[in-house]
Amino acid sequence: MRWDPAVYNRYADERGRPFVELLARVRVESATAVADLGCGPGNLTAMLAARWPVADVVGVDSSADMVTAAGEYAGDRLRFVCADLASWQPDGPVDVVVANAALHWVPGHVDLLAQFARWLRPGGALAFQVPDNFTEPSHTLLHDLRVSPRWREQLAAGADRTAGVERAERYLRALVDAGLDADVWQTEYLHVLPGDDAVLNWVRGTALRPVLSALDADEQDEFVASYAEALRAAYPKQEFGTVFPFRRTFAVGHLGS
Ligand SMILES: C[S@@+](CC[C@H](N)C(=O)[O-])C[C@H]1O[C@@H](n2cnc3c(N)ncnc32)[C@H](O)[C@@H]1O
Repeated sequence: MRWDPAVYNRYADERGRPFVELLARVRVESATAVADLGCGPGNLTAMLAARWPVADVVGVDSSADMVTAAGEYAGDRLRFVCADLASWQPDGPVDVVVANAALHWVPGHVDLLAQFARWLRPGGALAFQVPDNFTEPSHTLLHDLRVSPRWREQLAAGADRTAGVERAERYLRALVDAGLDADVWQTEYLHVLPGDDAVLNWVRGTALRPVLSALDADEQDEFVASYAEALRAAYPKQEFGTVFPFRRTFAVGHLGS
């Protein structure tokens, strides 16, 4: 599946806010090494370099398109590498490991948390955020369409959007088991999106991508038309915009000094 940095960044404000709110709970004063796993187009990784002004910051992403887009932000202390976060290793100990809106794409990601915790220097922190909206209409309608008689042969099996997420408590337990002080919470954002087919345009940047990459151009148009119609009924456009509720799980684990 290919990512499109421009489509993903269409809602940069809404997608950036959880990152800021996640980092607000990280109590690391000074850092010399920071890693951003699944860094995407790099705009948020650059914020890490600004927050820790002497740190070497590395953004890791498995999408060559994302890493190329992120190159715009690269500098002396900020670099980007194209790698799978499940197997990437830092050069040495790290003060802060961040994974914002990325781990849900990685099968078995809960088991990786203990490994990320082992990279931390004393006083360091692991911080991640995953969506928890897979039972909302944006995803259930996509699933229903994928497994409908028209599409199931092509789409029922391989086109699922993510590796799935765990309940918030499971993440808390994993952080505690990794020896970290755990701080886990959920927030439901009520995004107000402008324009027509706003939820469709949001999902085009993420969950719809694996589906579309399994179809040819005509099939994509047909699939998107059906999906858009269902989304319009589930998320009616109002005079001020389209309300798109979106719940997210946040987790921060600090290692004692
Ligand atoms: C929804 S974007 C989040 C990007 C960025 N962290 C942000 O908050 O805007 C998910 C990113 O995770 C990356 N990703 C997915 N699976 C990955 C993996 N196994 N290893 C590294 N990056 C991965 C994707 O390429 C994509 O850029």
